[in-house]
Amino acid sequence: MDRLIISGNAKLYGSINVKGSKNSALPLMAASLLSNKDLILQNLPNLEDVNNMQRLLQAYGVIADREDSTIHLNAKKVINRIADYDVVRKMRASILILGPLLSKFGEAKISLPGGCAIGNRPIDIHIQGLRKLGATFEIENGFVIGRVKDSLVGNNIKLSFPSVGATENILMAAVLAIGKTVIINAAKEPEITDLAKCLNLMGAKINGAGTDIIEIEGVESLNKTSHKILSDRIVAGTFIIAAVMLNKNFKVCEINPKHLDSLINILKKMGANIKIKNTSIEISPSKNLKGILVKTSPYPGFPTDLQAQMMALMSIVKGNSQIKETIFENRFMHVPELNRLGANIKIIKDVAYIQGNRKFVGAQVMASDLRASVSLVLAGICAKGKTVINRVYHLDRGYEKIEKTLGNQGPKIKREKI
Ligand code: UD1
Repeated sequence: MDRLIISGNAKLYGSINVKGSKNSALPLMAASLLSNKDLILQNLPNLEDVNNMQRLLQAYGVIADREDSTIHLNAKKVINRIADYDVVRKMRASILILGPLLSKFGEAKISLPGGCAIGNRPIDIHIQGLRKLGATFEIENGFVIGRVKDSLVGNNIKLSFPSVGATENILMAAVLAIGKTVIINAAKEPEITDLAKCLNLMGAKINGAGTDIIEIEGVESLNKTSHKILSDRIVAGTFIIAAVMLNKNFKVCEINPKHLDSLINILKKMGANIKIKNTSIEISPSKNLKGILVKTSPYPGFPTDLQAQMMALMSIVKGNSQIKETIFENRFMHVPELNRLGANIKIIKDVAYIQGNRKFVGAQVMASDLRASVSLVLAGICAKGKTVINRVYHLDRGYEKIEKTLGNQGPKIKREKI
């Protein structure tokens, strides 16, 4: 198991190019199951979750050859149709193969994801939607087993909550269903739009992705295509927050700034100096950073995936702040660890009360989930002294070698095997 040793009071200079989005890459890779033809994905990030999805698809017989940041996928020889607990427990996004498998092969057996560090995370919305398309489900020995009699048939599906994963699963399933499907109250995240864009390039007929009503006209089969994965707005947001925390001149490049509107608005209200360019964002020092109230919500609202990083920033600005977490019920695992580093954060139900003006001081901490881990890295680079972050495998699921990406721009971050 690896740990990170971080020297505090870090410098930060230059710029960072943001790679492809993990949350786009995973459903796009799963979409390869829908076609017998090649799907070539470019700008693939080099992350543990992507490796896990590649292994999962390969276990199903999908050819998945990777060279640098390009992956060639071909699912014409899919064999085995069981996703075991060992795979699904490592990555909840494994559930994204459910819709494609049912649509293309008429059956799927996937271990239930079960609980995870950031809450219960059930899959009822996925199942309800796929049922509406004609699939039947049973739960047996911890597996969800789905079957389709002849073919999925389009329907109107109203989601009880705009779940990102459920929207993606239903969208992928509907692409090969007979007739028209309408997803109402769909998730609007840019990753959904990216998935629909790629599916349309493959020959699907999808309209309305990025709005809360998506219409899909089923097609018989899909074609060969090549698609460049959208850049990772959460990684971009993390680096922007790092620059604001260190109060340095810094540039985050190869991004779509529009996808970061909610973060930029909040940071500007806090007093940050931010300039928006076409495909980059420039941060420069500010003397007047102050606290604010934030509520996480589905896109275009403030992303839950930037909540932990924002909390690290709120701890060191003037005045108090609050964050209300509305997406996940247990996403404050980073709070005790940030407090160990010198923050003063109290939680009452789904609201975190953050006292400002604190100074981080290095300590030993434990990473609990992906975004929690990176909030500790941000606190560590700002801290006085040395911070040791244990259990960093969570971080590697979503950040490409942070000791290099961030480390090359000033912060001293060392990885140690223990
Ligand atoms: C995706 C992202 C994750 C992000 C989250 C919210 C990927 C691979 N992951 O996760 O980084 O934090 O969106 O933006 O894209 N829910 C149910 N029943 C369901 C499905 C979801 O109750 O069937 C609940 C979840 O428990 C959670 C909320 O809905 O409380 C949001 O989940 P969802 O939007 O589905 O997130 P994911 O797709 O898992």
